[in-house]
Amino acid sequence: MVKAAERSPRLGGDTLTCKNKSPSSVAKNLSFILNLVTIITIAYLYFHSSSGDSPAVNEPPVFNPYSKKNVIMMVTDGMGPASMSAARSFRQFRDKLPINDVLTLDKFLIGSSRTRSSSSLVTDSAAGATAFSCALKSYNGAVGVDPQKRPCGTILEALKLQGYFTGLVVTTRITDATPAAFSSHVDYRFQEDLIAEHQIGEYPFGRAVDLILGGGRCYFLPTSVPGGRRADTRNLVEETQNNGWSYVGNRAEFDALDGGKNVTLPLLGLLADTDIPYDLDRDASEYPSLAEQVKVALTALSEATKDSEQGFFLLIEGSRIDHAGHHNDPAAQVREVLAYDKAFEEVVKFIDSSDVETVAISTSDHETGGMVTARQVTEAYPDYLWYPEVLLNTSKSGEYLSKTIYNYKDKKTGGKFEKFIRESILENEMGIKSASDDIVESLISKASDPNSLLYVLNNITSFNAQIGWTTHGHSAVDVNIYAHTNSDSILQRLKSKSRGLYGNHENIEIGAFMEELTGSDLNQITDMIKKTKHSPGKKDVFVDDMHANALAQ
Ligand SMILES: *[C@@H]1O[C@H](CO)[C@@H](O)[C@H](O)[C@H]1NC(C)=O
Ligand SMILES: *[C@@H]1O[C@H](CO)[C@@H](O)[C@H](O)[C@H]1NC(C)=O
Ligand SMILES: *[C@@H]1O[C@H](CO)[C@@H](O)[C@H](O)[C@H]1NC(C)=O
Ligand SMILES: [Zn+2]
Repeated sequence: MVKAAERSPRLGGDTLTCKNKSPSSVAKNLSFILNLVTIITIAYLYFHSSSGDSPAVNEPPVFNPYSKKNVIMMVTDGMGPASMSAARSFRQFRDKLPINDVLTLDKFLIGSSRTRSSSSLVTDSAAGATAFSCALKSYNGAVGVDPQKRPCGTILEALKLQGYFTGLVVTTRITDATPAAFSSHVDYRFQEDLIAEHQIGEYPFGRAVDLILGGGRCYFLPTSVPGGRRADTRNLVEETQNNGWSYVGNRAEFDALDGGKNVTLPLLGLLADTDIPYDLDRDASEYPSLAEQVKVALTALSEATKDSEQGFFLLIEGSRIDHAGHHNDPAAQVREVLAYDKAFEEVVKFIDSSDVETVAISTSDHETGGMVTARQVTEAYPDYLWYPEVLLNTSKSGEYLSKTIYNYKDKKTGGKFEKFIRESILENEMGIKSASDDIVESLISKASDPNSLLYVLNNITSFNAQIGWTTHGHSAVDVNIYAHTNSDSILQRLKSKSRGLYGNHENIEIGAFMEELTGSDLNQITDMIKKTKHSPGKKDVFVDDMHANALAQ
């Protein structure tokens, strides 16, 4: 199979970074003088305000990068503007809300991000997340490495070094591209065994992550243990527990964390063998929601840093919005976006009640599926509409339903199987009362091919809802940036013309913003981690998980 990274057109494989622009000496001197002026100004304002005089009315808030802060980076993997539009209209329809009812996220829109990678106009999640974590453009497939495959220091590592506590909360495998790009360094995203090793501290930096909540237990367990998928015989779950980590591996153990009040760090929480099921399919007695995971993480990390000089860095990802995009599944996707919106609401509540200066930045690495909330379904000029009620009538994801059909035992017995497709699947799960013979036949003919089945099922829903898709892969459209803070000085920096995030930005500027905001130095980390093992070994098999076989997991 051809690697995605190699298929991509080489568009001037340049190393674009916010930091590597080497300024002219005039500019350097100028910036030195400006820094000096800033320092003097800060010192003046500091002594001025601490002298007891009431501060002048229009004084700009004094900014200190080294004061205690919490930085929350939030990623909606694969969510483009149309996903927001679909989820918002779907919720208005479902809950009979007025036209002006918007998602929580909508209230915090500040700008948009341009997402291309160093190797292609269409990025993948690995290069997309590396842009945020290392503040540099790298090639599709790159996880925390630069275009020359050199490990690059990440914001998570830099803040750990500064004394912050750190966490990763996702709904996919914790070893998947986005969380991996903050906490590991490998040449290709499929090296998930090695990613897991880095995440527990087995590389020159040592342990950088204090809290892990997500799926992906399979890459921490050997094949001799049920659900294990490591190519070697190591059991990282046991090894970490012997090394002082606490571990939760199921809903009951997660609940014993008591909303984050009963957490001993470092915590390894692996709540599914692979990905946590779509929110639409999720059995709440078995898996917590993203919002529940976020609440635990925020409570545990703020508790851990209560008496500390520094706050925490937390990465939160609504990981499977992307998967629903790959699957072209609008019913699953709107629920994923709404689940993320609830998690975002938790973050906003936390920020508004925290005394620690806190900022949350939420954006996507890219759009997935080329989704559009309108689709021409006849040759005649189309009606201007789409049907959210179709998504409401679809009570399970295409992924779930295709597995159900695929696993149906007695596919040969024409009558019984057809009845099952008509009644159990189309009528009960998809709200389609009298399906045409063509539709039923298209499902029966694909019954032993779960991937084709998935596409046929989701096309039925999308077609009926009049939602369009242009690809089962990613697209290059700009994605939104949202942000919230309880700090006037951080707000002012977000709005700053030269270094802020209001307006339209390159994705690497988000990484650079966090670096500057915290006075951290990613290059310093890059120097520390040069000797990291990052190349694939002979045993590493290329599996383009989502992108090749949707049901392989
Ligand atoms: C706290 O966690 C421990 C295990 O680490 C568990 O035994 C105890 O029951 C938990 N407490 C609560 C209140 O859930
Ligand atoms: C949705 O389901 C309801 C109840 O089964 C049905 O009356 C309605 O026609 C369905 N709507 C669509 C668009 O499929
Ligand atoms: C999607 O469904 C419509 C309506 O049944 C059909 O005309 C079209 O060919 C399908 N597209 C794909 C890619 O299966
Ligand atoms: Zn993807």
